[in-house]
Amino acid sequence: MSIPVIRPHNGHPMLFVEDQPFYIVGGEVHNSDSSSPAYMEGIWQCADELGLNTLLLPVSWELVEPEEGRFDFTVPDALIQQARRYGKRIVFLWFGAWKNAEMTYAPAWVKTDRKRFRRAQIVKGKDKAGRSVAGGRATLPYYTLSALCEATVTADGKAFAALMAHLKEVDGAQHTVIGVQVENETGLLGSARDRSDAADAAFAAPVPEGLAAFLRAHPDWLDPDLAQAVAAGAEQGSWTEVFGAGAEELFSAYYTARYLDTVALQGKAAYPLPMFANCWLVHKGDKPGDYPSGGPVARVRGVWRFAAPTLDVLGPDIYVPEFLQVCDEYTRDGSPLFIPEAATHAYAAPRLAYCIGHYHAMCYSPFGFDDIGHPFSAIQGYLFGMDVTDPALKTPQDKAEYAWFAHTLTAMMPVLAPLYGTDALQAACAESGEPQATLALGKLNLSAIFRNPMVPDQLCNGVVLAARVAPDTYYLLAYHTMLNLAAGDAENLDILSLEEGQFENGSWKPGRRLNGDEAAMLMIGAPRLLKLRVSTYEDGE
Ligand code: DGJ
Repeated sequence: MSIPVIRPHNGHPMLFVEDQPFYIVGGEVHNSDSSSPAYMEGIWQCADELGLNTLLLPVSWELVEPEEGRFDFTVPDALIQQARRYGKRIVFLWFGAWKNAEMTYAPAWVKTDRKRFRRAQIVKGKDKAGRSVAGGRATLPYYTLSALCEATVTADGKAFAALMAHLKEVDGAQHTVIGVQVENETGLLGSARDRSDAADAAFAAPVPEGLAAFLRAHPDWLDPDLAQAVAAGAEQGSWTEVFGAGAEELFSAYYTARYLDTVALQGKAAYPLPMFANCWLVHKGDKPGDYPSGGPVARVRGVWRFAAPTLDVLGPDIYVPEFLQVCDEYTRDGSPLFIPEAATHAYAAPRLAYCIGHYHAMCYSPFGFDDIGHPFSAIQGYLFGMDVTDPALKTPQDKAEYAWFAHTLTAMMPVLAPLYGTDALQAACAESGEPQATLALGKLNLSAIFRNPMVPDQLCNGVVLAARVAPDTYYLLAYHTMLNLAAGDAENLDILSLEEGQFENGSWKPGRRLNGDEAAMLMIGAPRLLKLRVSTYEDGE
């Protein structure tokens, strides 16, 4: 069997595992869980109950290389064994120099050698920001490594390459590990750019060859303010001369992307699994430095595409309420949707179905998935502070419902994955804000109404996913919606059969045969999977 790979499938970039098209119905664990295989037992069980097919698990530089040059792979090895026992796949997250724009997972020998492994400076001459900015850690000062330090990228890349070589050795035949995230939420908080002496010198030096021309050729891969700054700047010169008002963020993006590319390149030379970078997003009104400046936010994606070509995908960690807008931003250039982290509120399950059905997503993975159903998840806490009126954003996802969605979509992979890249797989959801949507699928026009029946001027958190598997046969996954079936390619439509059921071991297992009221008025509350056969004809035929 071939190594997991991303390649085009019906013109769409698709992950292949064991030579089959694959999508990740995933879950990311809390940061510290995967440092203890004993602790992970309960987490694997939870993943199994939920029906996830892949876990995203941190592997930290500090545990893998506790002393320089001495590697210890006990923990990742144990995680691989557990995954095999539970029949799951793994995406490892390399917590190297960056974890949420900080250096918390760098080994002690890196943290204590500040001359060799230089820190980023937010205020010139000072190591610390003087205020805390990261992840709600209100009392801790902020320290982080500089993206421009050669010694750091060399050491980080060496450690990452050692991990990848080890994975090849222990997993090169079984492919339990199907991808790797390089670093975690990179970038710099508190300032648009590093203000150390080395960074100042690089900022005054000429912009690297080819970058400005590349960005001018792809203005859509930048936010308009940055594209304008690039268009108005000089052909060559220092960062300020070429990029004007956008210079500092573009500079940070370039050096952060170069850092990750260097690390990824060394890792791929050892074992070329698919690799990606995740992103702490911009939230309304934020300036670079309020969010980590230089990270792969959509507004600077052109720089990342130029400077980090080794990365296969850039993936948004989506906790902000504007979920669909973010998905659109990250797929506009034809990139696949890979969501390594997502919130666990009441859109979590509908979003899973929508991401697969509409975006043909490669990965959808709630963060801290074992919190699903708990009101006190860290992610919910984040939203409490936000000005959101949509009740679904402040309601915990029902755990049994999430399990239904994840089990169903995992079991449907042999049916749905081959349809990626075609219009035979479509979806609509209430979160788009439209009370009604119609999907055109050959013989069938499927309409979904997402009004809350109890409060008609309010939308619910409904979703519908439709797959046309033969000219007259469809699978419909639906939740919190009213469906209407109408003829698509002709004047009339007959329902030949309508069944509810589930997939088991790759085959359809029918439940009730629906007719009468259940087919005449498809009011769907709890999530359901239906199989529909239709025929169409013209009047007088
Ligand atoms: C985003 C980070 O990437 C995760 O490691 C974790 O810290 C979550 N935020 C917590 O909200």
